[in-house]
Amino acid sequence: MATKEPTVHNKANLISAQPFEEDQAFEGLRPKTFANFIGQAKIKENLFIHIEAVKARSESLEHLLFYGPPGLGKTTLANIIANEMAVNLRITSGPAIERPGDLAAILTNLKPNDVLFIDEIHRLNRIVEEVLYPAMEDFALDIIIGKGPSARSIRLDLPKFTLIGATTRAGQLSSPLRDRFGIISRLEFYEPAEIKQIIQRAAQVLNTEIDEPGALEIARRSRGTPRIANRLVRRVRDFAEVEKDGKITLAIAKQALDRLEIDELGLDNFDRKILKTIITNFSGGPVGVESLAASMQDESITIEDVYEPYLLQLGFLERTSRGRVATESAYKHLGIAIKQQKDQTNQAELFKTA
Ligand SMILES: Nc1ncnc2c1ncn2[C@@H]1O[C@H](COP(=O)(O)OP(=O)(O)OP(=O)(O)O)[C@@H](O)[C@H]1O
Ligand SMILES: [Mg+2]
Repeated sequence: MATKEPTVHNKANLISAQPFEEDQAFEGLRPKTFANFIGQAKIKENLFIHIEAVKARSESLEHLLFYGPPGLGKTTLANIIANEMAVNLRITSGPAIERPGDLAAILTNLKPNDVLFIDEIHRLNRIVEEVLYPAMEDFALDIIIGKGPSARSIRLDLPKFTLIGATTRAGQLSSPLRDRFGIISRLEFYEPAEIKQIIQRAAQVLNTEIDEPGALEIARRSRGTPRIANRLVRRVRDFAEVEKDGKITLAIAKQALDRLEIDELGLDNFDRKILKTIITNFSGGPVGVESLAASMQDESITIEDVYEPYLLQLGFLERTSRGRVATESAYKHLGIAIKQQKDQTNQAELFKTA
């Protein structure tokens, strides 16, 4: 099955949790140790214990799967784990491994206890996935030599390694693959207080002064996502430097974020457009995500992976078996009266059938 590449459909769209090229210029913001990794307390504590235990036994860590919306720290955690284990980190991604030979080459080059990070692991193809099973389970590679009746399979031993898989779509992972992970962790959206800390740390790394209310204001509008928080700090900093004395305060954060059209809950024009489309074009839903995407001239995968998780978290959207439904709070947030809108659509429908 060919999956479409998720697109960053609008580069100007600040709240997209997908990475921008620009984000890479700020690699320094990525925490390198657990001590600098804020939030996700449960995941962090468990990992810390596992790591200490296997380090003491000089073993490799169990295979780990991280899943959850983009920008919450999956890649960052993989980096921290390799760093804390003092082993090499080899980074690749599902779509990058095209043939079994590509994976075999990666696996045979690993050193004992190394970490292999496979991003977008749900996009591995089946044939490659089958090579991964014995590698994960028995640290072995089965290679077929020859063709036809004389073909035989030989088994190559691999060093013990840790596979860390990351995905935004755990549901798309095959169950044999999922079952081979010892630890499966779901990353959650961060609390505003945690995001505030991430923002304060980012400001420090960027050498920018920020006060508490300013940091909290940006935090509230960062949709619980560190990647977005870091990006907003940089934008607000530009604003503070060009228009004021460079210090980020509540007033400056508000002005800058309003100007960037990010509302008090972190929604941008595209989020509002999704909700408005459901409400006005589909009488508030239910509407299938494909119809919704078609009506917005965007890809359903962008809506599902990038926008929807936060709208669901806010309770503005519900997923039902028949499709997406805008909730009462969504109407309220947009200032649309529920009854009035429904009446209008009913009239429009009557008109159509008349
Ligand atoms: N807990 C955290 N504390 C501080 N900063 C964080 C934390 N988690 C993530 N970040 C910051 O957010 C950025 C995005 O995180 P990361 O790249 O790990 O997300 P991801 O979950 O791998 O996203 P994707 O699904 O798009 O690959 C990082 O560059 C890092 O600076
Ligand atoms: Mg990542």
